[in-house]
Amino acid sequence: MSSPGPFIDSHCHLDLPHFQADRDAVIQRAQQAGVEAIITQGVDLPSSRAAIALAERYDIVWAAVGIHPNDCTDFDPAMIDELRELAAHPRVVAIGEIGLDDYWKTVPLPRQQQVLRLQLDLAAELGLPVVIHDRETHELIVEELQHWVAQRLPGTPLAQRPFVGVMHSFSGDLAMAQQVYQLGFVLSLAGPVTFKNARSLHALAKQLDPQRLLIETDAPYLSPHPWRGQRNEPARVQHVAARLAELWQMPLNEVARRTTATARSLFALPVQGASPRFTVHH
Ligand code: NI
Repeated sequence: MSSPGPFIDSHCHLDLPHFQADRDAVIQRAQQAGVEAIITQGVDLPSSRAAIALAERYDIVWAAVGIHPNDCTDFDPAMIDELRELAAHPRVVAIGEIGLDDYWKTVPLPRQQQVLRLQLDLAAELGLPVVIHDRETHELIVEELQHWVAQRLPGTPLAQRPFVGVMHSFSGDLAMAQQVYQLGFVLSLAGPVTFKNARSLHALAKQLDPQRLLIETDAPYLSPHPWRGQRNEPARVQHVAARLAELWQMPLNEVARRTTATARSLFALPVQGASPRFTVHH
């Protein structure tokens, strides 16, 4: 029997206390489910350091470092220098999770924009793709990204990469998808595409380009059907892929092949060997 996958969970938060008790088992279940790589995200400096520590500990884990829009209340520009140092680590593959959020309203939008712009420029300088959070800020984030791609990105190391970033857990419409494709972004879908009542998301997913889509769990959040509301984990990324296989009327291994190829390309990940192994570094 052929093994499932390979899948890449392009976005999760493995450092959170939700995984404190059983993190080794969570990683092992992911590998058994055919997950070859997991990108764990930072949301502030401590979680960015924790993401790197996890990427050092587990062979299949890679880190993104960044400051989330809901976590920039105490932002100080000196934090960008610290992020630059963290991003030099060989296991760091992206600047994330960064973006804008007008749902929780924990931080005024002008402050969020300042922090986003500095991190977009850092990513361009370092040649690392960005992982973008956009909640209820569709028009504003597209404006920010259009300005960045037109005015700030040209001539930087990131401009040489095949893709410049990913819109994580994409919640826009087809017109927005096409706008961000044009800017060099890919999209990512998470557990909500598996929800029975997510009809507009199903309709959208059918129209998205399978070559420009990643899959993710956003674990411990956004558990797919039938675990909605429970703690999520990277092994369940296969259920996002399975729903896309139905929507696209495509074999599951083809969805795995395409989304994994796109994730490897975005994050410049090495292609894994034929015999995945479970390795923990102590
Ligand atoms: Ni996230």
